[in-house]
Amino acid sequence: MCGIVGYIGDRPLWPVLLEGLRRLEYRGYDSAGVVYFRKNDIEITKVKGRVYDLEERLYRKDTSGVGAPGLGHTRWATHGEPSDENAHPHFDCSKGLALVHNGIIENYYQLKERLLKKGHTFVSATDTEVIVHLIEDYYKEGFSLWEAFLKAINELQGAFAIALISNKEPDKILVARYQSPLVIGLGEKESFLASDIPALLPFTKRVVFLQDKECAILSKEGLKLFDFEGNSKDYTETTIHWDLSQAEKGGFPHFMLKEIFEQPQAIQNTLLGRISLETFEIDLLQKEIDWLKEIVKIYVVACGTSYHAGLVGKFFLERFTQIPVEVELASEFRYREPLLHERCLFLGISQSGETADTLASLRLAKEKGAKVISICNVLGSSIARESEIVLYTQAGPEISVASTKAFTTQVLMLLLLALYIQKIKKGLNQYPELIEKLLHLPVILQEFLDKSYPRVKEISKKWYQAKDFLYLGRNILYPIALEGALKLKEIAYIHAEGYAAGEMKHGPIALIEESFPTIILAAKETGLVYEKTLSNAEEIKTRRGPLIGITTQGSEEVKRLCEDYLEVPQVPYEFLPIFYVVPLQLIAYEMAVLRGCDVDRPRNLAKSVTVE
Ligand code: F6R
Repeated sequence: MCGIVGYIGDRPLWPVLLEGLRRLEYRGYDSAGVVYFRKNDIEITKVKGRVYDLEERLYRKDTSGVGAPGLGHTRWATHGEPSDENAHPHFDCSKGLALVHNGIIENYYQLKERLLKKGHTFVSATDTEVIVHLIEDYYKEGFSLWEAFLKAINELQGAFAIALISNKEPDKILVARYQSPLVIGLGEKESFLASDIPALLPFTKRVVFLQDKECAILSKEGLKLFDFEGNSKDYTETTIHWDLSQAEKGGFPHFMLKEIFEQPQAIQNTLLGRISLETFEIDLLQKEIDWLKEIVKIYVVACGTSYHAGLVGKFFLERFTQIPVEVELASEFRYREPLLHERCLFLGISQSGETADTLASLRLAKEKGAKVISICNVLGSSIARESEIVLYTQAGPEISVASTKAFTTQVLMLLLLALYIQKIKKGLNQYPELIEKLLHLPVILQEFLDKSYPRVKEISKKWYQAKDFLYLGRNILYPIALEGALKLKEIAYIHAEGYAAGEMKHGPIALIEESFPTIILAAKETGLVYEKTLSNAEEIKTRRGPLIGITTQGSEEVKRLCEDYLEVPQVPYEFLPIFYVVPLQLIAYEMAVLRGCDVDRPRNLAKSVTVE
């Protein structure tokens, strides 16, 4: 996730680009850059760091005579670590074209090979740089700038919102969108572009939302819209009435809610480039790692929500790889004497990549000769840097302290990893049907989110004054019970315990009474233990404990037992953790709001725990 802005018109350029970038920094902040016209040519300034570092660099430069068109970019690295070279904008060999991009180009490697053979030289490790070279390549073949642009965008696979300027045609900006957001701002004799509305709000309230497979030419005369074949299209203008704080959160009242609703997109991004659409093979590493076949034991180590993702991962890893797995809290792991050797895999999970206990555990594992893979969300973070292999979740920056989209993408990545190791070990992908279904996951999840939210609101309104909650689940939903309880504790400040439903009778059942509600996770897809979970629900009902059921659509038994229930669509077993955690995230969010809590910044907590 990155942020892009652009402007063509007569205003001074810096306020539009820099203010726009500042307002998009929530989308990424590891490097920033601008491209602009100066003395009839294009100049680029870019830095590793934040927008204020870019401003400082510009301040020290001679930028007299600078004018539009111009583009800006704030980066959340996906390919290539944060550095000046990898920062956008990127330019072509002759430095006549410059481009900014938000998204991921899945086929960049193949395109780059092709362009290298044709003599192009690359200065960065990014997927973005191939786009500008591809356009240049067609342009050199004799196509017009617009034709070259169209030909190139039709070759790109993955997700992209791009904007291009050229010193040959300084009267226009070319833009295109596929699966990454792009908004055009309209004005009098001027046009704007941005990844999100906040960047446009100080300058215009008239916008056009580009749709997938739409591209456009922006000029002082306004917007000309086309499809990817170059056919002209009509557009609809919208007037934005949001204030700035509403706009930063995409119209949601809190970042947490925005991030919960971003989960289908985050999952889509995490899948990008990792599954072949022809063979449904998973490719996570793009090269063979021999030692993966030799692993005899896996230690999954993490903290908090990431630890819960690890507990889910154990089900996937053991089921698909047949390798025994232990999941441990990093704060415990680092102070015991784990039996590690070179055929052990240490799998660290961390959204921030900076959690002190997870990092220390990783160092310990390396010292003892274990192989190390990490699952991180932040590129170039400490844990990522110190791992032999990093699998990045592409959730984008998570701003709310309570982790939501990082969790679901971690769970997804663990499933991908388990299926990948299975293929490496057996030399054969035994689960193409399941992998194909993964491609539909974002759409089904989006529908579920939209449908279940009103019901969650009703349930939360009824129960938010309770002082304690019990969350019960079995099998792959046990970690989800833990995660649901953690979310409620940390943002709504309600005491909650997650428990394995079968453990009830070994203690917690003594707590059950009329004022102590239980949220019970009962999915038919868990097979045998579904019936067992129902028996646990019966035990609670007998003791007058109120029950809220989260269950598979059409589970009459759960409806009969529970005061309230929420139905989840039938999905493959492996998807259950993602579908069951979403309503629990929403319940915690709603109850926190109803109790007047500071949802995005819960008391006593920090987003990144870099101390013990
Ligand atoms: C809870 C939460 C924390 C983190 C934990 C680990 O919502 O966010 O429990 O999961 O502090 O953080 P990372 O994943 O950054 O290592």
